[in-house]
Amino acid sequence: MDNLGHIDVENLPKHIAIIMDGNGRWAKQRGKMRVFGHENGVDAVRRTVENCAKHKISYLTLYAFSTENWKRPKIEVQTLMRLLVASLRKELKTLNENNIRLNAIGNLDFLPGKVAKELNEVIAKTANNTGLTLTLALSYGSREELKQAIKAISSKVKNNIISEHDIDETVINTHLYTHDLPDVDLLIRTSGEHRISNFLLWQIAYAELYFIDVFWPDFNEQHLVDAIINYQNRERRFGKTSEQLG
Ligand code: IPE
Ligand code: IPE
Ligand code: MG
Repeated sequence: MDNLGHIDVENLPKHIAIIMDGNGRWAKQRGKMRVFGHENGVDAVRRTVENCAKHKISYLTLYAFSTENWKRPKIEVQTLMRLLVASLRKELKTLNENNIRLNAIGNLDFLPGKVAKELNEVIAKTANNTGLTLTLALSYGSREELKQAIKAISSKVKNNIISEHDIDETVINTHLYTHDLPDVDLLIRTSGEHRISNFLLWQIAYAELYFIDVFWPDFNEQHLVDAIINYQNRERRFGKTSEQLG
């Protein structure tokens, strides 16, 4: 970890979100089934969560399963769900030891009962932790999230709970799955693909984007540190001029 010393602890991204991509290709490269890639992807999740806690990141959001991923072969979907239940069960103790609070976003009603039960249990049992907030995006799609928010807000307007004039960014934020999370500061996507794939469209409005040509199972501490340092070397202008920031 020769770069570790270069992280500026005063300028950490508060919220890191990761599109964990490339498990299938990682396995294919090794002549194995996609499932093998997902199994190894779980190790990368564990590593990354621990490293974010170690480097004092406050919020980490991981894209684990998209609304579109339901269209994958049934056997792959089942494997992903099985891995999820097993990992949640296995990691509860480590989450508590590291003071990590688990959270989930997405259309969780679509998850199989077993997954939802395990998820809710771990969320409840880590609810009082005050360190890293780890959010799993499961059956998550940004368009679905926005659709639900628009429906909820429209219904409140219709029932005179709020007026149309009250609708502002704060109102919209409070109706998103991410209502208790800050905006994303740094979005990382592995695997070399340069796209967002329906992830946190509203929340990444001013995120710094970082694409890395490494398949998810190989993502390690050095890659994470490099991404943070790269983020710290950028100037976030939020529409202003460089001189105004001085
Ligand atoms: C990411 O890896 C994991 C999920 C989407 C669940 P992929 O399974 O998309 O792997 P590639 O992109 O096909 O290599
Ligand atoms: C995005 O990866 C979803 C997750 C990482 C969970 P995909 O592999 O599903 O995205 P596309 O299909 O390449 O855009
Ligand atoms: Mg993929």
